[in-house]
Amino acid sequence: KQGGTALEGGMTFPHAHLLGIEPLSPVDITAILDLAEDYVTLNRSATKHGDALAGLTQINMFFENSTRTQASFELAGKRLGADVMNMAMQASSLKKGETLIDTALTLNAMHPDLLVVRHPHSGAVDLLAQKVRCAVLNAGDGRHEHPTQALLDALTIRRAKGRLHRLTVAICGDIAHSRVARSNILLLGRMENRVRLIGPPTLMPAGIDAFGVEVYDDMRSGLEGADVVMMLRLQKERMDGGFIPSEREYYHRYGLDAEKLAHAKPDAIVMHPGPMNRGVEIDGEIADDINRSVIQDQVEMGVAVRMAAMDLLARNLRARRAAAA
Ligand code: NCD
Repeated sequence: KQGGTALEGGMTFPHAHLLGIEPLSPVDITAILDLAEDYVTLNRSATKHGDALAGLTQINMFFENSTRTQASFELAGKRLGADVMNMAMQASSLKKGETLIDTALTLNAMHPDLLVVRHPHSGAVDLLAQKVRCAVLNAGDGRHEHPTQALLDALTIRRAKGRLHRLTVAICGDIAHSRVARSNILLLGRMENRVRLIGPPTLMPAGIDAFGVEVYDDMRSGLEGADVVMMLRLQKERMDGGFIPSEREYYHRYGLDAEKLAHAKPDAIVMHPGPMNRGVEIDGEIADDINRSVIQDQVEMGVAVRMAAMDLLARNLRARRAAAA
C-alpha cells in the first residue's frame, strides 16, 4: 500500500449500504479488505480501540437466532466507539405480524446511523434499507446473501494464500440453503477464481449453472487440486425432509475427513463459517488441525472486516449528510 495505511487515507466507498456482494466491484472488495488489515493489527494491539464510529448509534436487529455474527458486529461497533444496541427480535415481532414498514418507522424514530439486520426472508433486508434513513448492513437474509461472511472468508484466504485470484475453491455441502455459498460464489468469481460446488444433487440450487461454477456430486473428484476447501453446515432448520438419506450416509459421502482432504492440494486450507456439525459435514480432528484449518482465523477476520465495512459506510453517511446540510 502506498502513502500510509488505508486507515489514514481518505478512502471513500461508493455505496450507502452493504446489502450483498452483488453490487460490489473488485475495487470495492479490495478497499474493504485493505482497511480490514489495519483493523486486524488494531485488534491485536493492547488498546484495541479506534474512533471511526464515535458518536454514532448502531442497532443490531436479528430476526433469526445468531451467536457469532451478532457478537462479532457488536464487538466491531464497540471497538470503533459506536453506541451499540441489540434489539432482541427472536422472531417475536414476525409472529405478531408487525410489517417491515412498521419496523422501519419505529427505527427511524430512534435515529440510528448503522443498522445491522438478519432476517429469515430473502430480500427483506433490501426492502428495509429502502425505508430507513441510515446505512444498512445485511447480516444474512434467507438464502440470498451474507456479504460480511464472504468478505471475512476472502480476507482469510488472501492472508493464508497470499492472493485472492486464480485459486481453485471448492465449496462443499448444503449449497441450496446457503447464503454463505451464494455470497462466496459471487465474490470469488468477481476476483477471478475458479469455484467448484460439491454436494448431492438434492442440495444444489436450480439454475446454478448460470453462476459460472463447476458442479460435482463426487467429493473426491471435486476436491482434486483445490487450494481452498470450504465446508458448509447442513442447514437442517431449512429442510422439510428428503434432502439427505441419513446423517451417517451424508458423512460417509460428503463429510470432510483426512482421506477425502488428501485429494486437495497438500497445502489446501479448510474453512467453515460455523456453527459446525462435527461428524456430519466435517471430522472434528480436521476442524481442529492447526496446520490445515483456518476456522479460528475466520472468526478473527470477521470482527476486522465488520469494523472496516462499518467504517467505510460511516464515511459515506457523513459525507452525504454534510452535502445535504
Ligand atoms: C452462517 C449463516 O447464518 O448463514 N453462519 C454464520 O453466519 N455464522 C452459516 C450457517 O448458519 O450455517
